[in-house]
Amino acid sequence: MTGHVEVIDHPLVQHKLTLMRKSDTGTSRFRMLLQEISMLLAYEVTRDLKVTQEDIETPLQAMSAPVLDGKKVVLISILRAGGGILDGMLKILPSARVGHIGMYRDPNTLEPVEYYFKVPSEMARRDAVVMDPMLATGNSAAAAVQRLKQAQPKSIKFVCLLAAPEGVRAFHEQHPDVPIYTPAVDERLNEKGYILPGLGDAGDRMFGTS
Ligand code: URA
Repeated sequence: MTGHVEVIDHPLVQHKLTLMRKSDTGTSRFRMLLQEISMLLAYEVTRDLKVTQEDIETPLQAMSAPVLDGKKVVLISILRAGGGILDGMLKILPSARVGHIGMYRDPNTLEPVEYYFKVPSEMARRDAVVMDPMLATGNSAAAAVQRLKQAQPKSIKFVCLLAAPEGVRAFHEQHPDVPIYTPAVDERLNEKGYILPGLGDAGDRMFGTS
């Protein structure tokens, strides 16, 4: 089984991504664009949510109308840069529940180590959307999803802003069942693990650190 990659080629998404790539786009504009693009990604990633019919009254007459079915979606932010996507997604999904996963790479073993994990209750009845802006090597995203699977959510999708082909391959080797939603799959990783052409360090550009 090979995993699915959904490239979000909507013109608004592509335009905003181009602005985010530009090296002269400053922190506040970068943050705002990330929030806007994440709202559009939320729209795409929720396209297949189940609905059920509810009897309602309009000012003119009764009707049966669709509403979202089941438990609230859970948005899972991978610390720290996942928070940028989370902010935008919560604008579209204000009732969503939120989880956080923190992993770092042990400098000796190079293995991902968990330092934070908190998710809502009743995960077995919730669809999970995991987010991290850059799918570079894919190692931390794959480790975060591995950890999340222990909580047994109903379904898992992964959303990012940019992916490298190496990251997509590594992620889907471990999780062919988790579709990736991304506006673009770039050329490759450089020797330091940055995506080329990419947009630089997403966390630094978002928070003004370096
Ligand atoms: N993380 C980033 O922020 N940027 C990259 O290009 C790769 C990983």
